[in-house]
Amino acid sequence: RLDDDPCRPSYHVTPPANWLNDPNGLIHWNGRYHLFYQYNPVGPFHNTIHWGHAVSDDLVHWEDRPVALTPSPEGPDRDGCWSGCAVDDGGVPTVLYTGGRDKRQLPCIATAADDDLTAWDKDPDNPIIEELPTEPEVLRTEDWEGEFRDHCVWREDGTWYQLIGAGMEGGGGAALLYESTDLRDWEYRGPILAGDRDTAGTVWECPELLDFGDRQLLHISNYEDVVYFLGSYADGEFEVDRRDKLDHGDFYAPQSMWTDDGRILTWGWLPEARDVSGQWDAGWSGAMSLPRELSLADDGGLCQRPAPELTELRGENTSYDVVRLGAGDTEQLPVESRSFELRATVRLEDAEAVELSVLETPDGEERTPIRYTYESELAVDRSASSTDPQATGDTQSMRVRPYDAPLSLRVFVDGSVVEVFANERHCLTSRVYPTREDATGMSLSAEGGRATIASLDIWELDGVW
Ligand code: FRU
Repeated sequence: RLDDDPCRPSYHVTPPANWLNDPNGLIHWNGRYHLFYQYNPVGPFHNTIHWGHAVSDDLVHWEDRPVALTPSPEGPDRDGCWSGCAVDDGGVPTVLYTGGRDKRQLPCIATAADDDLTAWDKDPDNPIIEELPTEPEVLRTEDWEGEFRDHCVWREDGTWYQLIGAGMEGGGGAALLYESTDLRDWEYRGPILAGDRDTAGTVWECPELLDFGDRQLLHISNYEDVVYFLGSYADGEFEVDRRDKLDHGDFYAPQSMWTDDGRILTWGWLPEARDVSGQWDAGWSGAMSLPRELSLADDGGLCQRPAPELTELRGENTSYDVVRLGAGDTEQLPVESRSFELRATVRLEDAEAVELSVLETPDGEERTPIRYTYESELAVDRSASSTDPQATGDTQSMRVRPYDAPLSLRVFVDGSVVEVFANERHCLTSRVYPTREDATGMSLSAEGGRATIASLDIWELDGVW
């Protein structure tokens, strides 16, 4: 594992070196949690994708495993083993994924030959779906004979169902439903939901349907954002009553796992926010988000919390009952770290804004302010995060509700990751790349009035490999 780079996260899942994108095939099997991911073992760029593999006993500490799926030179996945999911087929761990070959995207299936899920047999009859749906017609582009990929599979009353992400000719993205009795012969049923081009992108990648009992959630990734739809799904149709982004920053193509005690945990890919040469120089690219527990609030909205298991990582603690700030005050916090968790309750009183600045050098040359304003906006300002011209410097922001209550904040800083949870509902993850060794400080300040920060806790967090 590359580990001498201060930008390398230490408690987020990363590839040992080289390239990572989407989480795949999440499954709890034989007492262990398995996380596969889109992986290029050759370099920190997206090409000829394999499935990398990490395992955990506790969802917190991880071990690298050998590559699980490799493109077969003669197979339908010759150009790449793309995203997919894992299911338990009557005791046989099974993955469905997209093979790339020439200009085609071809659904494939493989079964594990061992309980450690390290050896996979690809079905000789791959691909399992060859014909593209014609009603509506799947989008063709210069590069692809059909934008048709990624898999979410579940079982209902003895029947298997799957969603495949697609783009539709003349329309926008869609999540296409298929049905099967054996995971191999699939019958097309039509889109459960289709977006219009303007609001939700031309192609939907990595669709996932999650069941919360009386309500369902569908999320899709549309090249820019992860959009979720909350509503009800029945008989092949999804009726939407709300939509939002799952995360307002650098977060893409998430996938979820059910725990034995009935919780939904979701991981997303945190793409880099430095340019290709920066990734090349670093020798690695991509991290996973922390596992997020998704649930529905009483008002029907979506809650997102860091998985409670993560408290295992907490080391040394610094704690304040309350910090009161007057207009223009700045308070330095005695923390020197690039891997920590912060938890606080922020009350604006009559301030216009409060800033929590992390990864800050003593002279302020590099700093990443997380800014909360009375307009109820939370922003991560990256304009001074790094003096490295390879790093992105734009600001990412989101609206935080409810606007008149104190803000409850959980912030996870890890090398180049700043992962923010607000009010246990809204997430914003930013990638930042401080260059200076002393970019480890933290400060609090108030603007235009007074503010109170209560129950402030900071924990150093341990590495997980
Ligand atoms: C999403 C995605 C998927 C595809 C995979 C290829 O990031 O483009 O649609 O299966 O990545 O790596």
